[in-house]
Amino acid sequence: MPEKTESAYGGAPTVPARKLTIPDLVAMKRDGKKITMMTAYDVAFARLVDKAGIDVLLVGDSAGMVMLGYPNTVPVTMDNMIQMAASVSRGATHPVLVGDMPFGTYQTGPQDALRNAARFLKEAGMDAVKIEGARETVDTVRTLVENGIAVMAHVGLTPQRVAQFGGFKTQARSARAARRLIDDAVALEDAGAFSIVLESIPSPVAALVTERLSIPTIGIGAGPDCDGQVLVLHDVLGLFGDFKPKFAKRYADIGSQVVDALREFDREVRDGTFPDAEHSFTMKDSELDALRGDLAKPARPKAV
Ligand code: KIV
Repeated sequence: MPEKTESAYGGAPTVPARKLTIPDLVAMKRDGKKITMMTAYDVAFARLVDKAGIDVLLVGDSAGMVMLGYPNTVPVTMDNMIQMAASVSRGATHPVLVGDMPFGTYQTGPQDALRNAARFLKEAGMDAVKIEGARETVDTVRTLVENGIAVMAHVGLTPQRVAQFGGFKTQARSARAARRLIDDAVALEDAGAFSIVLESIPSPVAALVTERLSIPTIGIGAGPDCDGQVLVLHDVLGLFGDFKPKFAKRYADIGSQVVDALREFDREVRDGTFPDAEHSFTMKDSELDALRGDLAKPARPKAV
């Protein structure tokens, strides 16, 4: 597990000296070190996530909502994800990079899943893929892992099933549902998943899963006892106001700063204070005089 040391990024003591690996993440669980995961969808934010020293960068299909403006993640395509993931991998060099398999790209069977997952590694530079789903995805997870593709599983509130769930609702609240989720998580670990996201489930259920697995659990709305935590970047930064789940903590309000900056630009253009001399280019007086002299001459007759 690389130490977080001084880096090229202005000396911030947060970025590891080398790229993190999947075995590093498993070792972090073993050593009781918390894992951080954050989403990003483009090169600019990938650079910032990298600079902050985040361990895992997920190119989530939450992109469907926060980048593409859909009401949920269902319409997202493999091509959407590949383009965003490729941009991210050009900006982030330290975190483990995980590409999220969109709805319909793995449910049709392990071979389709293999073909689509391979695109994340070959075309977009991802280290691993994430697959939403419980016991029904076990065969797919096993096929991907056996063929050399690392898989992060995802159980609990799996947003691709939003219609079946009747909304973005907390899962595993009854003893029976919680038992089923625990068994699913164990089956996914047995199938070879290297980590598992637990989304929107009661904290005690997440604690029980975490205690039973030797792979790291990454919680989102799953309480403090998971091995790591993930949030959606746009929720963290205040860039997305359409839907705010209870678990999404806002650490900054960049959205209102963006609006303030754009209003100032709008005002300065309208009142003529932008662009000023500092943001404009000059030319030699002699060149300008020559140009003016040339323009003052009678226009040449047009060639016929
Ligand atoms: O799509 C996504 O961003 C996710 C995270 C919320 C885990 O699946």
